[in-house]
Amino acid sequence: MTTQHDWTDAGFATRAIHVGQDPDPHTGAVIVPVYQTSTFAQSEVGEHKGWDYARSGNPTRDALQAALASLEGGRHGFAFASGLAGSDAVLRTLSPGDHVVMANDVYGGTYRQLARVHQPWGLQFDPVDLSDVDAVEAAWRDNTRMVWIETPTNPLMSIFDIRALSDFAHDRGAIVVVDNTFATPYLQQPLSLGADVVVHSTTKYIGGHSDVVGGAVVTNDDDLAAPIAFLQNAIGGVPAPWDSWLTLRGLKTLAIRMRAHCANAHAVVEALVSSPAVTQVLYPGLRTHPGHDIAAVQMRDFGGMISFRMVDQDAALKACARFRVFTLAESLGGVESLVEHPGKMTHMSVAGSTLEVPSDLVRLSVGIEDVEDLVGDVEQALS
Ligand SMILES: Cc1ncc(COP(=O)(O)O)c(C=O)c1O
Repeated sequence: MTTQHDWTDAGFATRAIHVGQDPDPHTGAVIVPVYQTSTFAQSEVGEHKGWDYARSGNPTRDALQAALASLEGGRHGFAFASGLAGSDAVLRTLSPGDHVVMANDVYGGTYRQLARVHQPWGLQFDPVDLSDVDAVEAAWRDNTRMVWIETPTNPLMSIFDIRALSDFAHDRGAIVVVDNTFATPYLQQPLSLGADVVVHSTTKYIGGHSDVVGGAVVTNDDDLAAPIAFLQNAIGGVPAPWDSWLTLRGLKTLAIRMRAHCANAHAVVEALVSSPAVTQVLYPGLRTHPGHDIAAVQMRDFGGMISFRMVDQDAALKACARFRVFTLAESLGGVESLVEHPGKMTHMSVAGSTLEVPSDLVRLSVGIEDVEDLVGDVEQALS
């Protein structure tokens, strides 16, 4: 779908609602329709209106891709069936024998994909503490082609300096990929900080309502966009029209939701900090957080994700079971608050690896319910 109005200079919330989403030229429908079709009529062989087969392209998906690209400040946006399908496409732009320096605290599924899918096919990688320049230098090899950053990380909420790492990688001929799932483009724009590619699990804040799984890849680099476009079609990990539509509907309210997530998270952090049952709160908004100063510069606010530690695993598991407003469930970034135990839930896949997470860790995805209800629930769960 072509955008008739130029929204380039519009603000973030305006672009979320309008880019790629002009009224339907055929019917005037204000909302982009769900083009639930697998194929498109051709007037003659090879003559069509821009779409020929729905794996290669679909107008609903195109609208989503245009909006995603605009929100990240990129020229090229690609939607995938899941965040991991998007990561897979980005990693496949590398060649066997290439080496990836990856943050040593990434989403467990990203680590599993590198370790158990790409490594057996010939990619090499090292998980590294990306806040330690000496460690990055030591891990660097002649064949290092990519730095994979996640910031804030899932689940330890580590912060990495996107601009400094981009300069470092570019000086050595490597590209930088940032998983921006936790921050969202509303809070952090990696391309403007020097990164080459942004990836998302749109399942999380971008979709925002825990009703659809999806992924996104955005870049400004034409040379990277071409292979990603090829892989999107050649491998076919694309979102269905309905899933594209749900994600597009979700992202319209990203700005207002993120403001509410952040405000509620600040209040929940205060409650956690003052709880005697909590031994450590991991939230980049806290001045005591080692990444606070970097986060304050590269993020607009500190997000809706909080992790905290308790005396031991038993205390953490018991606390998880006591929440009432927060639902015990995997995933994050929806309007409803969630609590989980990463060690036994989302991060099982890194058990026994260098990325294993502490067993006393609890992760909260702070939703946009009334703040008094959330703080009250935290207090009763930890009492
Ligand atoms: C930071 C991060 N990146 C990537 C993913 C993978 O996304 P998906 O589950 O949509 O494949 C997740 C999933 O939890 C995640 O938290």
